[in-house]
Amino acid sequence: MRDLYLDDPVRLRETDSSDMLGAIYGLPDQLPAALAYTRTQGVRLRTEGLLQIVITGLGGSAAGGDLLRGYAAAACKVPIFVNRQYELPAFVGPATCVIAVSYSGNTEETLAAYEEARARGAQTVVITGGGELLRLAERDSVPHVVVPTGLQPRAALGYLFVPALLMLADSGLIPEVDEELSETVEVLHRLRGLLAPDTPTAHNPAKQIACHLHGKIPVIHSTAGLTEAAAYRWKTQINENANSPAYAHVYPELNHNEIVGFDVPGAALELIRVITLRARDLHPRIGKRIEITTQELLGPCNGVEVRAEGESPLAQLFSLLYVGEYLSAYLGLSYGIDPTPVQKIEQLKRRLAEG
Ligand code: F6R
Repeated sequence: MRDLYLDDPVRLRETDSSDMLGAIYGLPDQLPAALAYTRTQGVRLRTEGLLQIVITGLGGSAAGGDLLRGYAAAACKVPIFVNRQYELPAFVGPATCVIAVSYSGNTEETLAAYEEARARGAQTVVITGGGELLRLAERDSVPHVVVPTGLQPRAALGYLFVPALLMLADSGLIPEVDEELSETVEVLHRLRGLLAPDTPTAHNPAKQIACHLHGKIPVIHSTAGLTEAAAYRWKTQINENANSPAYAHVYPELNHNEIVGFDVPGAALELIRVITLRARDLHPRIGKRIEITTQELLGPCNGVEVRAEGESPLAQLFSLLYVGEYLSAYLGLSYGIDPTPVQKIEQLKRRLAEG
């Protein structure tokens, strides 16, 4: 295995100067903390006449929406949509609940969608760390959950996801989640012992995958439904923490298009490595599809498979996601990049603010 300095604590600390690894280590602890403050702040959804839920947000603040849709779709009494733009879908009206999520509270697309939800008479709730969105929620007496600040939005995933999850569970839209949350925290605590910087590359799957992906373009495959959100999160975390391109696609859809695309151009294909994320209890035909695709169709682009840990769907989802959190930071560090800053996002926001 190449020495990418991932086992050199001094170099890791120097490069990771804003401590993204510390934030990732803290993710499991965000779940019980968020459970406590959400229950204290006690936001309940009105379910009478409710036909749809729309979670509106961008980037790290939309990621919790993806997880919720992936996790709750199988059990939720109403459909869940994730909206990532200024406008809301045409169906949004008084029978819709719009959950507006922005960690900074200042993301212009989310603020516009919030105003539109109010104008259309939708039930509106807010999850935010502050900013303009909190000011608007207070002005409009809109129920809101305020989350702890001081992190990059993408590093606050637990803080942003759990309030939305509990809103659904505590309103009876999905079955009670407390046990699954406890198992998820247990699994993540166990996993971080394995994935954290103190565990050397020889025993650390996240560092090993970082070595495997170093110099390559990652393509993350998972399955539609539960783990789809984990694959997309891997992609965006690799983008933001490692400053690298990355792409994600899902079974079985990828079997109907993407697999044909692993033929030419040869030189570019040498750069691609496919990581497959796999939950337990897959539909048997999906299992078969993964086997044939990885063993026979991806050729040299085929990389490694990451298997979910834990029993409950929530624990499995977070276990897959958590490997990607560490992997993306290690990959960035292996390139000598500080994983925390997102200069291009900030530059774009500044340019847009100029009018
Ligand atoms: C930065 C990040 C971004 C932001 C996005 C929206 O860490 O993850 O994707 O989440 O620019 O900003 P917020 O979350 O403040 O609404």
